[in-house]
Amino acid sequence: MSPSAGLGGAERCLLDFVWACRQFDPHMSTRVVSLAHGPLLEELEQLGARCEVLELPAALAELGEHVRVDLPHALQLPAVGAAAGGFLLRLATSVRRFSPDILHTNGVKSHLLGGLIKPRGTRLVVHLHDFTSHRRLTSMFVPKLALRGARYIANSRAVAEDFKALLPSAEPHVLHNVVDTDYFRVGPTDSAWLAAAAGLSPPAPGLSFGLVATYARWKGQSLFLRAAAQFFQRRPESTARFYIIGGPIYTTRGSQFSTEELEREIATLGLEGRAGLIPFQADIARVMAALNVLVHASTQPEPFGRTVVEGMSAARPVIISNAGGVAELFRHGETGLGFECGNAADLCRQLLRLEDDAGLREALGQAGRAWAVAKFSRARLPAELASAFGLG
Ligand code: GLC
Repeated sequence: MSPSAGLGGAERCLLDFVWACRQFDPHMSTRVVSLAHGPLLEELEQLGARCEVLELPAALAELGEHVRVDLPHALQLPAVGAAAGGFLLRLATSVRRFSPDILHTNGVKSHLLGGLIKPRGTRLVVHLHDFTSHRRLTSMFVPKLALRGARYIANSRAVAEDFKALLPSAEPHVLHNVVDTDYFRVGPTDSAWLAAAAGLSPPAPGLSFGLVATYARWKGQSLFLRAAAQFFQRRPESTARFYIIGGPIYTTRGSQFSTEELEREIATLGLEGRAGLIPFQADIARVMAALNVLVHASTQPEPFGRTVVEGMSAARPVIISNAGGVAELFRHGETGLGFECGNAADLCRQLLRLEDDAGLREALGQAGRAWAVAKFSRARLPAELASAFGLG
């Protein structure tokens, strides 16, 4: 059950899971109930999963951890309750019709809904892609699913430890994301394509730095732009370009940037012509290959940080905001460059370091690719998934 059908990290992970189910047992049938429409569904169907969309009523879809508990919101509660009741019934009927052996929930809203409607005899597998303790509602409800016999998968040791602090008896199965290391091919950079995609003039020879993320604020778009501004203060002549690649793909209110806001920030920081926005790209391997350097700049601890592994896989040096599960994914100075989470000056130092040192860029790219192939190849997933699902 997927709460979203955009193509963020958790959804890409779900695609790998569907692929892995088929590899593990070609007769296994996979069905995905998605709570929203979006590009994920077509990709799932291409992998042989049957999909059904049961759209979460708007009032529920917008209800996130950021919603304020005040009088105007409280007055909406009866309407929200009525919408929720009808929806739960439809969801329960749909899941019961398929009567799965395993109900795998791939995001917070689906954990809660899955826990409520899980049929008797179905095993609930809750896949934690985020820190549970950081969210008020989630930390109240998700541990309670253990009472319904839930098994837990965590996308990093950090996420598993965070969960165990809430539910010491839990033993989440740590399953790092994998990537298709054949898809993330090693290829030439393409600064002209990046500039055109961002609507900037053709670039002079120089590096392209990119941040690839959904528009959630904590992914650090603003930090990245501030570090870029500091970079040009130190290097006014540099012809480097800075790109933010992605879009607002989730529906929860208040938690993401709009394109206009980021455009304003680029203008305010004096980065026009030097920094640009590239809308969400389905072919993310092309983006990774086109860049010279991938930047990960999350301003909160990153649960896993899938783009980091994708960048390594494409043999690109990666600069990483070093907090959370992402710290498990690289060795500083060998397979990536870490910087202090939230510190624009420290990020700027790493940007300058890589602009200066082509040898270091090459070495990090090569070592990153070898490391990604050894540790994060998709081939290991079928066996690991079977064990996480308890299939023996
Ligand atoms: C979530 C996390 C991200 C992770 C992805 C896949 O989006 O925020 O860190 O890479 O899930 O597990």
